[in-house]
Amino acid sequence: MAGFDQASFLPSWKALEEHHASTGKSIILKEEFKNNPQRFNQLSHTFKNSADNSEILFDFSKNLVTDETLKLLVRLAKETGVEKLRDEMFNGDPINFTENRAVYHVALRNVSNSPMKVNGNSVVEGVNSVLEHMKEFSEQVRSGEWKGYTGKKIKTIINIGIGGSDLGPVMVTEALKPYADRSLTLHFVSNIDGTHVAEALKSSDPETTLFLIASKTFTTAETITNAQTAKAWFLQTAKNEAHIAKHFVALSTNEAEVTRFGIDKKNMFGFESWVGGRYSVWSAIGLSVALYIGFDNFHQFLAGAHAMDQHFKNTPLEQNIPVLGGLLSVWYSDFFGAQTHLVSPFDQYLHRFPAYLQQLSMESNGKAITRTDDYVRYTTGAILFGEPATNAQHSFFQLLHQGTKLIPADFILAAESHNPVDGGKHQTMLASNFFAQAEALMVGKSPDQVRGEGTPRNLVPHKTFTGSRPTTSILAQKITPATLGALIAYYEHVTFTEGAIWNINSFDQWGVELGKVLAKKIQTELETEGAGGGHDASTSGLIAAYKQKAGRL
Ligand code: F6P
Repeated sequence: MAGFDQASFLPSWKALEEHHASTGKSIILKEEFKNNPQRFNQLSHTFKNSADNSEILFDFSKNLVTDETLKLLVRLAKETGVEKLRDEMFNGDPINFTENRAVYHVALRNVSNSPMKVNGNSVVEGVNSVLEHMKEFSEQVRSGEWKGYTGKKIKTIINIGIGGSDLGPVMVTEALKPYADRSLTLHFVSNIDGTHVAEALKSSDPETTLFLIASKTFTTAETITNAQTAKAWFLQTAKNEAHIAKHFVALSTNEAEVTRFGIDKKNMFGFESWVGGRYSVWSAIGLSVALYIGFDNFHQFLAGAHAMDQHFKNTPLEQNIPVLGGLLSVWYSDFFGAQTHLVSPFDQYLHRFPAYLQQLSMESNGKAITRTDDYVRYTTGAILFGEPATNAQHSFFQLLHQGTKLIPADFILAAESHNPVDGGKHQTMLASNFFAQAEALMVGKSPDQVRGEGTPRNLVPHKTFTGSRPTTSILAQKITPATLGALIAYYEHVTFTEGAIWNINSFDQWGVELGKVLAKKIQTELETEGAGGGHDASTSGLIAAYKQKAGRL
């Protein structure tokens, strides 16, 4: 455990406060570029992805930092023990101390098979054996060797899961669609709203549908209810429970509950409690990904993440790309008072990437109690949001350019499109916007410039842009499985770095429990005749109004 309580008591934090007051808050980015022709070279970093020999360029130069800022931020990382916690994670130590668990998703993508242990026991063989099972099963389903109960090939896959058992698979299958077997139809059912499962079932045929029940705990109310609805729907046609074995598989850590549900343990793809839900796409939870894009591509996805893990583990902090990303985030949150962080991929296939990152970042770092059990004296977890560009430009970017809030933003682009339609014109336009947005946010437009364009006096302030609005530009070659793996791992380690500095436990999620418990109680009330009660006046009033409208009073 890190040997400090509050980061804000550390000398480097105090130094950063002073530095912010004297320099940081008045940085004019375009001046920094004018004064230092080497700024781009000095502040951009190339990640070499050994998985597919591609590169990703991370340009941090349009951020509100000087050499001194970075020096102080690195000092903060050192004083807060980021390296120590990182090494503990890679050692399999129980750094998720509120649940007494290791945080070992990095072991799921350990494609180099280096020794990795939890409690002195190697995890490598277990991980590889599940991967082997996933390979065998996905190849059988894709080739048609795996048949439904009437002997037909599987055509539809319905993944039933929520949170990390949904968002990762959805996002990755969307992002890597160009690699997919398009003869398979994929549905993701997560919401307890019956519409979600009903819509998926409407267009599916029980004879050719495979259900993946994805739940780490196998007790999540939404998932189990949706799975039971799916099972009933299936049995309506199939009649015989023995046919379940051909159409339902479980992705879980909980063998007892899987068996109780009626899924044969031969059809269970397991993982361990040291895999957090929001870090589970690399585990058996990624089975829909392997089925859709093929196991070799899934393996590449793991290999890309592994390459980023190696970088994170072995690179000095000054050059460590995710550490720098995390430090910038702390710099904006805690010294500039930024409350949000925007991630806009300039890539339609990455349209669920921001939603995925929301769980990763906000479920991890939406905490206020330190590892020494005190309330934090600083802001933690930023509100992460995003939409793909260029759509986002035509919706909320106005606020980025001229609003009162500082919104640090990440822009992501791949140089090579999977769909270079119209002679590549779309891609060129997309790329132009990627560069233009970051440039516009950074350089702004002065009142003099606006006046110089002959703008009427009363409109000058309205057409002025202050500039110096920070962005990080992430430029990949192409969104391949390995590149996507590395990008996700980058954000995981950014989140890790932030949490280490804030001295919070980024790996539990107690905050989701209270609402779950109350919902269970209220469910019973809704199912019972009469007014119910025992709540505050607002909740009781709302429940009564609902029951009346639903004809249950
Ligand atoms: O309620 C939050 C949460 O526990 C997430 O952390 C998790 O990803 C999700 O629910 C689903 O959990 P499970 O995979 O156990 O169904």
